[in-house]
Amino acid sequence: MAYSSILVIGGAGFIGSRLVAQLAATGRRVIVPTRRFQRARHLLVLPTAEIVEGDVHDDATLNRLMGKADAVVNLVGILHGKAGRADGRYGPDFARAHVDLPKKIVAACAANRVGRYLHMSALGAAGNAPSMYLRSKAAGEAAACSNPAVATTVFRPSVVFGEGDRFLNLFASLQKFMPVMLLGGADAKFQPVYVEDVAQAFVNALDNSESIGRTVELAGPTIYTLRELVMLAGIYSGHRRPIIGLPSSLARVQAWVLEQLPGGPLMSRDNLDSMKVDNVAAGPIDAAVGITPTPLETVAPYYLAR
Ligand SMILES: NC(=O)c1ccc[n+]([C@@H]2O[C@H](COP(=O)([O-])OP(=O)(O)OC[C@H]3O[C@@H](n4cnc5c(N)ncnc54)[C@H](OP(=O)(O)O)[C@@H]3O)[C@@H](O)[C@H]2O)c1
Repeated sequence: MAYSSILVIGGAGFIGSRLVAQLAATGRRVIVPTRRFQRARHLLVLPTAEIVEGDVHDDATLNRLMGKADAVVNLVGILHGKAGRADGRYGPDFARAHVDLPKKIVAACAANRVGRYLHMSALGAAGNAPSMYLRSKAAGEAAACSNPAVATTVFRPSVVFGEGDRFLNLFASLQKFMPVMLLGGADAKFQPVYVEDVAQAFVNALDNSESIGRTVELAGPTIYTLRELVMLAGIYSGHRRPIIGLPSSLARVQAWVLEQLPGGPLMSRDNLDSMKVDNVAAGPIDAAVGITPTPLETVAPYYLAR
């Protein structure tokens, strides 16, 4: 087994929790930093998981954490952030989480002789992508791969589904309360990938040095439009509602209204911008991470029905 002690930054989140469980199941020690201990409490049942409360943007904290690890995974990501940097490519929130943090992580890896780094990006990341989210993810990839002393693999999943996801579950919950779904970006295409497959791809990459230097797209077996996914979420949860696709001008107004809601936006204009490009993989999943993607239909009905 390559690498026995893994620092999983962002490990308390949706994908991270599944990855930490899979890494622990291989007998590895897993260190999970979190801003709030409570958010990671559910990982305490894993015998080899160690939760550390702290700020990973702080260099001293990051260096201390590196001292415990021989490989690092970074899953930190945000979906919403303010616009506002001078060049307009992405705002300060995206810059901090998606670009500055990977820069710090790679520097800390090199300084602490941690030679392996698995970096989470997103399908569609590109310098000229239509959203701040995707442009900042591209800049983060560049930062992740910037030091030859650190062997990096970059992962780019399409939207990820599974128990506790915030995509199908959101559309299932909305249909419980809304008589009709008014949907922006209804024709945008996605290729959803199962969270356990994403986690398995990370574990396999650690075990297979052929994945070093690669950018690995992760996608499921089927391409759907957003309208089809919302319809499936309605069917599986037992609350199917009529779906009305909004023209882009009205979709932007709707997204702006949703951005103003207290407690964090359900949807933003930047999310709509991301959907201007189809979120589908260029080809089959790289054999270096060795996963066979699970069909959405074999998993989603069970957790959405609950
Ligand atoms: N879910 C998807 O469909 C999907 C698709 C493509 C790519 N991705 C990428 O996959 C990664 C994980 O996604 P997820 O769905 O598991 O997200 P998640 O549940 O929101 O978890 C994200 C984690 O990042 C940490 N985090 C967020 N903002 C941070 C900040 N400013 N500083 C430090 N830590 C911060 C959180 O740590 P705390 O414990 O401190 O709160 C949290 O554990 C992200 O990079 C995301 O962009 C996700």
